[in-house]
Amino acid sequence: MFLFLLLLLSSPSSIFSRTATAQQINSNVSLGSFLTPTNNSYWPSHSGHFAFGFYPNGEGFAIGIWFAKSQQKTITWTANRDDPPLPRDVTLILSSDGRLILQWEYGQQIPFANTSQPASSASMLDSGNFVLYDSDSRIIWQTFRAPTDTILPGQSLLAGEELVSSISNTNHTTGRFRLKMHRDGDLAMYPTQYAAGDDSLYWNTATHPAGGNVSLNLDTDGKLYLLNARGFNIRTLNDGQTVFGNPIYRLTIDPDGLFRLYSYNLDQNGTWLVAYQDNENKCLPKGLCGLNSYCIPLDQDKLYLSSWF
Ligand SMILES: *[C@@H]1O[C@H](CO)[C@@H](O)[C@H](O)[C@H]1NC(C)=O
Ligand SMILES: *[C@@H]1O[C@H](CO)[C@@H](O)[C@H](O)[C@H]1NC(C)=O
Ligand SMILES: *[C@@H]1O[C@H](CO)[C@@H](O)[C@H](O)[C@H]1NC(C)=O
Ligand SMILES: *[C@@H]1O[C@H](CO)[C@@H](O)[C@H](O)[C@H]1NC(C)=O
Ligand SMILES: *[C@@H]1O[C@H](CO)[C@@H](O)[C@H](O)[C@H]1NC(C)=O
Ligand SMILES: *[C@@H]1O[C@H](CO)[C@@H](O)[C@H](O)[C@H]1NC(C)=O
Repeated sequence: MFLFLLLLLSSPSSIFSRTATAQQINSNVSLGSFLTPTNNSYWPSHSGHFAFGFYPNGEGFAIGIWFAKSQQKTITWTANRDDPPLPRDVTLILSSDGRLILQWEYGQQIPFANTSQPASSASMLDSGNFVLYDSDSRIIWQTFRAPTDTILPGQSLLAGEELVSSISNTNHTTGRFRLKMHRDGDLAMYPTQYAAGDDSLYWNTATHPAGGNVSLNLDTDGKLYLLNARGFNIRTLNDGQTVFGNPIYRLTIDPDGLFRLYSYNLDQNGTWLVAYQDNENKCLPKGLCGLNSYCIPLDQDKLYLSSWF
């Protein structure tokens, strides 16, 4: 009886580590694997919540990561977002010598991920991060360090990094607005046609006295906050646990120039709902209708845009 209890007590951790290993192996992409736009077109994460691969883009395809549970794929990351659509005869290869490369039918190759050493494997993680590992299973490249318009729980926006909005919800090329985590500690938004830092700023946290290496962080419970270099919380933008059910969150700077924290209830086949929004004034973003113009919000979704001249 005593022995049996001991076994019971020791089993949870061993079960847990076995499960964790199984998850890694399931979503592990080995050398020699490849994707094409038309057949085997993506690598799913273990849970199936996220996928990395080709998605339709205009007349061709783009490579990105999407949240696969919502009825319409939600693109959370796009590679080379301003490049023309890819043709159907390209192949993305994790080559046998450890390079992630894009190859055209007629043989041209370009590196897709630049790493200083060869990869040993790749993985689409359940967090929504696509990573390349070296032979010691250390991450040598990850999409979380090259965000486009969205961060996911567990992903930080580090000092010097920024999110840039998309043209529209269906066109993920560089749009009109950026959310920049400045090296001086300030988190701020600007129109993209101006350099970040000049008087085109239209929103900020005014946390620049905090100094270097402040980061924007999102937790799995939806908590959104700034940490300083010593790991102290210097500003909470949203407290966690605001949504019932089994939510997954994303923070996106939307095409309209406002950033929103969205939640999706994994227990239902629903849609993304806004869990937090710092400012609801759709006229806040500068440059919506040119410099010499004014903007009056009519209701939640309509704007009255006009020019002084
Ligand atoms: C991925 O699989 C390869 C063999 O296919 C293995 O050598 C490597 O250790 C695995 N990596 C991880 C992180 O599980
Ligand atoms: C994908 O489709 C093409 C043409 O339809 C075919 O030549 C190729 O072998 C297919 N690849 C796989 C992995 O099924
Ligand atoms: C996305 O928008 C850009 C800029 O307006 C345009 O050049 C491009 O063709 C669009 N892409 C798609 C796939 O519609
Ligand atoms: C990788 O490096 C090459 C050569 O330096 C460069 O042309 C290419 O844009 C880089 N690709 C990425 C994804 O950074
Ligand atoms: C920020 O982080 C970098 C890299 O870790 C470090 O070299 C630098 O000293 C840090 N700056 C501050 C102000 O903490
Ligand atoms: C969501 O929809 C899919 C297919 O329509 C169905 O298989 C699944 O059971 C649904 N899940 C929930 C939680 O309703």
